[in-house]
Amino acid sequence: MSDVRLVRLDPTGADRDALVAFLSGEEFPFHVRRTISPEDAARTIDAGAFRDDEHDTSWLEHDGLGPIGIVRLEDLEDPVPLFDLRIAGRFRGRGLGVPALRAVTDHVFTSMPTVSRFEGQTREDNAAMRRVFVRAGWVKEAHYRAAWPVEGAAPVASVAYGVLRRDWETGQTTPVPWDDEPSTGLSVGR
Ligand SMILES: CC(C)(COP(=O)(O)OP(=O)(O)OC[C@H]1O[C@@H](n2cnc3c(N)ncnc32)[C@H](O)[C@@H]1OP(=O)(O)O)[C@@H](O)C(=O)NCCC(=O)NCCS
Repeated sequence: MSDVRLVRLDPTGADRDALVAFLSGEEFPFHVRRTISPEDAARTIDAGAFRDDEHDTSWLEHDGLGPIGIVRLEDLEDPVPLFDLRIAGRFRGRGLGVPALRAVTDHVFTSMPTVSRFEGQTREDNAAMRRVFVRAGWVKEAHYRAAWPVEGAAPVASVAYGVLRRDWETGQTTPVPWDDEPSTGLSVGR
């Protein structure tokens, strides 16, 4: 059993101050915005970005360590939700990424019976997150070249991973068929 569980937070109520402190007190080097001011965090929270029809957010609660970060579920009105996972700096690199992502995946497939696949994306240079995806049984499905804007530098690739409900149920991974149909007769190159 995972030692990380999700505890739904109340972003505009009881948890508002703690969420503002978390978002503005940490650095997120692989997000479009590396740092967030307390004012911007509060504004975004109050606009509903952490809980509305499309979003829901939980603390990631570790049995021994307490809250280690947050996960925000996104696109909840679409058939395929996405997520944003943020572990606090002092807890990064300690092997908590995989149990955290497994807990998030369990939560989605257990509490959302109509969801048959779940997706996530990260920057190509976010090595830890890419390891976490693979170790947690997710499968790389796309590599969007130059798709992730970086302030003051060239864009980097965005790498997309997905997990199927049936893979989650069986513990197997269904591979992506990468080869284009050989029968199309298309030639490679110009
Ligand atoms: C990305 C993140 C969730 C990974 O979780 P983590 O607890 O730090 O990672 P772990 O300690 O579980 O390590 C997972 C793997 O990545 C490797 N790793 C950890 N930190 C690394 C680093 N800085 N560089 C390269 N590899 C790293 C570990 O060795 C491990 O690999 P292994 O399974 O082969 O041993 C966490 O670092 C985080 O929240 N970062 C900031 C926010 C973010 O980038 N979120 C992703 C948005 S989707």
